[in-house]
Amino acid sequence: MLRRKIKENIYWMGSVDWDSRLFDSLIPLPDGTSYNAYLIKGSEKTALLDTDEPHMAKEFMAQLEGVSQLDYIVSQHAEQDHSGIIMQVLEKFPEAKLVCTPKAKGMLIDLLHVPEDYFITVKDGEKLSLGDKTLTFIHTPWVHWPETMVSYLEEDKILFSCDFFGSHIASSELFVTDEGRVYEAAKRYFAEIMMPFRKVIQKNLAKLADYDIEIIAPGHGQLFPRPKFIIDAYHEWALGTPKNTVVLPHVSMHESTQQMVDHFVTALVDKGVRVEPFNLAVTDIGKLAISLVDAATIVVATPTVLAGPHPYAAYATFLANALRPNAKFLSIIGSYGWGGKTVETLAGMIPNLKVEIIDPVLCKGVPREDTFTTLTNLAGTIAEKHKENGFV
Ligand code: FEO
Repeated sequence: MLRRKIKENIYWMGSVDWDSRLFDSLIPLPDGTSYNAYLIKGSEKTALLDTDEPHMAKEFMAQLEGVSQLDYIVSQHAEQDHSGIIMQVLEKFPEAKLVCTPKAKGMLIDLLHVPEDYFITVKDGEKLSLGDKTLTFIHTPWVHWPETMVSYLEEDKILFSCDFFGSHIASSELFVTDEGRVYEAAKRYFAEIMMPFRKVIQKNLAKLADYDIEIIAPGHGQLFPRPKFIIDAYHEWALGTPKNTVVLPHVSMHESTQQMVDHFVTALVDKGVRVEPFNLAVTDIGKLAISLVDAATIVVATPTVLAGPHPYAAYATFLANALRPNAKFLSIIGSYGWGGKTVETLAGMIPNLKVEIIDPVLCKGVPREDTFTTLTNLAGTIAEKHKENGFV
């Protein structure tokens, strides 16, 4: 991909990764992704905001052909998908300075071995003049590491946000044209890397409220020509109350737990509760993460294997604990053969979740009528708790 013009003297750089299907060797990417950097030419100085993934170095360095002067590399986030080519760029432009937060400086030294004399650290709210263009740096920790900041270009009213407001989408269109498609991709992204820091995100959103933003240019995915769309979505995801929804990650070995799941889904629907079941043997774990953003209740359904939960159920529970959703209730259902400590093991895996545990429903072997009755009662209890809390 060639360098692309956004506005006069402002360019998109980076790469569109059409083929990538897994991020951080963990997160499914059904739509690929992009790594976005930006080149800003002021009347006196030129700045590059972020770089690219290390394996995209050849393409990225080719985009710098014809750039005769580079005064600043702004590193908004030290993670290597944005910082990975900083050393190559500094080799091409040894006179450039590396601009970042004080916290990022140490991280970039550790991660990339950048020599100390390249750095200029900036305070929250500090400005950098490029001549006829001015960047303001706004510290926004935990989007998505502790050192992150965003940059506001005053004259053009562009917010360069790196991971903040990003989405994993590969597209030949620089700007968002299909907000529905981007909504789901951005929510997946929020769930996977922003949700654990929801409280800090709320503070970061408040910090941006005073800025007149016409374009948001993130580090992944397309640029937002209507920033209100993604800012409103972030307010909903970070500040919204849970919804009348049960997320139900489940796995079964000999159909007993599956019979319980089928009955429980029907009972929840009958009680007017939205339910999102995810068969962990086949599900896209990113879809499960999206559902956790809104869910009021999580119910893990698992058989007992080797005296504990099925490894898929343990994985989903570990992930939910790491993502720290805003769910208020949790329960466990499943079948066992001879005994075990499934409930104790799963309950010990969720120290980060501020949930009330509702009595689990376990049965020995194939469920009998009394188990189905108990599952119906569990669905009723959940419906009542959602109603009491005003979850709709
Ligand atoms: Fe896109 Fe946290 O890196």
